[in-house]
Amino acid sequence: MNPAKGEVVLGGIKDYEQRFIQAKRILIVGCGTSWHAGLVGEYLLEDLARIPVEVEYASEFRYRNPIVNEDDIVIAISQSGETADTLAAIELAKSRGATIIGICNVVGSSIARVTHAGSYTHAGPEIGVASTKAFTAQVTVLTLMAMMIGQKRGMLTGSAFHRLVNELDGVPDKVQRVLASEPQIKYIADIYKNATNALYLGRGYSFPVALEGALKLKEISYIHAEGYPAAEMKHGPIALIDEAMPVFVIATKGASYEKVVSNIQEVKARKGKVIAIVTEGDRVVKDMADHCIEIPDIADQLVPLLSVIPMQLLSYHIAVMRGCNVDQPRNLAKSVTVE
Ligand code: G6P
Repeated sequence: MNPAKGEVVLGGIKDYEQRFIQAKRILIVGCGTSWHAGLVGEYLLEDLARIPVEVEYASEFRYRNPIVNEDDIVIAISQSGETADTLAAIELAKSRGATIIGICNVVGSSIARVTHAGSYTHAGPEIGVASTKAFTAQVTVLTLMAMMIGQKRGMLTGSAFHRLVNELDGVPDKVQRVLASEPQIKYIADIYKNATNALYLGRGYSFPVALEGALKLKEISYIHAEGYPAAEMKHGPIALIDEAMPVFVIATKGASYEKVVSNIQEVKARKGKVIAIVTEGDRVVKDMADHCIEIPDIADQLVPLLSVIPMQLLSYHIAVMRGCNVDQPRNLAKSVTVE
């Protein structure tokens, strides 16, 4: 990305730009955290590039006889580039003539080698089993892809494109500001470290982050947690809410803000404890929630890059306080190379 020139170039997929521009459909496959990044990718590509996207668990895709056409683009996301189900999903899509684009972290990995083209995330080695920085890097690459394709398709023009380029350029500084909240996040972790269940809610771009937040808590602290689209809460999880249930809500200013505020009221009416991720300076949610963690204001499309960090830190501190091995959680593997 070159903010001065106002352009996004992804060298690894340059030869496939035309296919992206003409694509009628994009499929995204992955597992675990990479699948969550794929969900953010769906929202980005549909929003910015106006191409229909479907996101699939690789393990389901490979066995359910999916419809894959020669003019489909399949984006395979994998930190390790070695996940067996993702590799098998790629082979299936490839055998049906689709173009396969990889988003991998490990250079020269199996997935990077079997794809037609791709972009490395270059996040550096990720040692901890629970994926963190890889998610940020995957979402960043997907953002760049969506911006580039959106611009080339004429869907993301002029000032809207430049605003996103500048906002993306400002993400590292804003991440630093989020990291400065760590003492407060630790304080909140201490309050909820003995919870047996937790609910994570978000809407729009924040829904996949809610899923990822719940996954992080499960993986490293062994507390049962569920991520849900905030509006779906009334179709089930609301029955679980009582004074012992921490509910982590991403309630940043943006398209779904008012709706999420009403979801918070629904939780408070049932005596749930609300820990909200809010935009700096928010007063409305602060008056309702039990705790608020502020993140800097940013375009809706880029909120996941900031809001996932308090989620990861909360899980980290809760796990440490519970005496769990954060780097090597029980029963989990960094890379799942068998079915
Ligand atoms: C394992 C890891 C997760 C990861 C998933 C997918 O379950 O523990 O952290 O998200 O595999 O891995 P990949 O390397 O394909 O992104």
